[in-house]
Amino acid sequence: MSEPLQRLLRIHDLSVSLPGPRGTRLQALRHVDLTLDRGESLALIGESGSGKTLTALTLMGLLPPGAHVDGDVTLSGQSLLALDEDAWGHWRGRRVAMVFQEPLTALNPLQRILAQVMEPILLHRLAPDRATARAHALAQLARVGLDATHARAYPHELSGGQRQRALIAMALAAEPELLIADEPTTALDAVLRLQILDLLQSLVTERGMALLLISHDLALTARRVQRLAVMYGGRLMEQGRAADVLAHPRHPYTQALWAARPRLGAGRDQPLQVLPGGVPSLSQIGPGCPFHPRCPLAQARCAQEAPPWTGHLACWEVAP
Ligand SMILES: Nc1ncnc2c1ncn2[C@@H]1O[C@H](COP(=O)(O)OP(=O)(O)O)[C@@H](O)[C@H]1O
Ligand code: SF4
Ligand SMILES: [Mg+2]
Repeated sequence: MSEPLQRLLRIHDLSVSLPGPRGTRLQALRHVDLTLDRGESLALIGESGSGKTLTALTLMGLLPPGAHVDGDVTLSGQSLLALDEDAWGHWRGRRVAMVFQEPLTALNPLQRILAQVMEPILLHRLAPDRATARAHALAQLARVGLDATHARAYPHELSGGQRQRALIAMALAAEPELLIADEPTTALDAVLRLQILDLLQSLVTERGMALLLISHDLALTARRVQRLAVMYGGRLMEQGRAADVLAHPRHPYTQALWAARPRLGAGRDQPLQVLPGGVPSLSQIGPGCPFHPRCPLAQARCAQEAPPWTGHLACWEVAP
């Protein structure tokens, strides 16, 4: 089947299992289907433990040892699951780059910011000499709002927001086609969160790069991306244009996440609607819909059999 020209990433029927205790296998991702076009931003949303980071790690070739992967993942028509470690060395950082969750641990504390942003440029031989690499790195830092003083600093000398910007500059340094940002704003205060999300979205618009933004926060993220995919228990629950999903969240899990959002100006006598229960561990997830223990619409068959993924929705009780 031929792909549209603008199609960058295609994840088809992706399942990932991990080694569990006493020789068992834990099914972490089940039949995930996603696409991403050039110049498009998609937020992958779900509570902690839903499988978002494992999805990202699959795209970076960084799954834990012993992981089994089934399905099909292609970037620019190249199957990522077929790459060997040598080939990953050329792809990782160059074609797909990732901003990891924790800026302090993702940066080398002993190296100045400039050297860290130059590293991918030198590694992928994207500049003829060090002086050019340096100029490219400074330009990347300028794009995320950091100057020569920040470039000379060590990570601990920067604020949390500046470190997160430095990590984004590092990820952008080799001009990747796909940028993955895994909870890039968790460590930041409310104003900085919005600034970083706006920065990411402006980079998508400016560069035609694709963005996969991972977040547990539907309300914060949803208005800053074009598409949303909601994940739970290693399965997709709902996906669609962000504006449509927000206007009419259809899946009971999306509705629950939306109802549980913090609201500005909510009166003191209006209790927050908190989602009851917690995300199941992998060993607790059976063959049915993973949301069934917490779902207000659950029926007997929800526990027995997982609903099929229609491309937009997986739920027995909501009409496709
Ligand atoms: N290396 C691992 N070994 C076993 N289980 C793991 C491993 N990494 C993640 N998991 C489990 O896989 C599930 C999904 O994890 P993850 O993708 O990190 O979730 P999220 O990023 O949505 O918080 C969780 O139940 C987590 O405990
Ligand atoms: S399939 Fe059943 S348990 Fe799952 S979300 Fe739909 S109604 Fe709820
Ligand atoms: Mg995660």
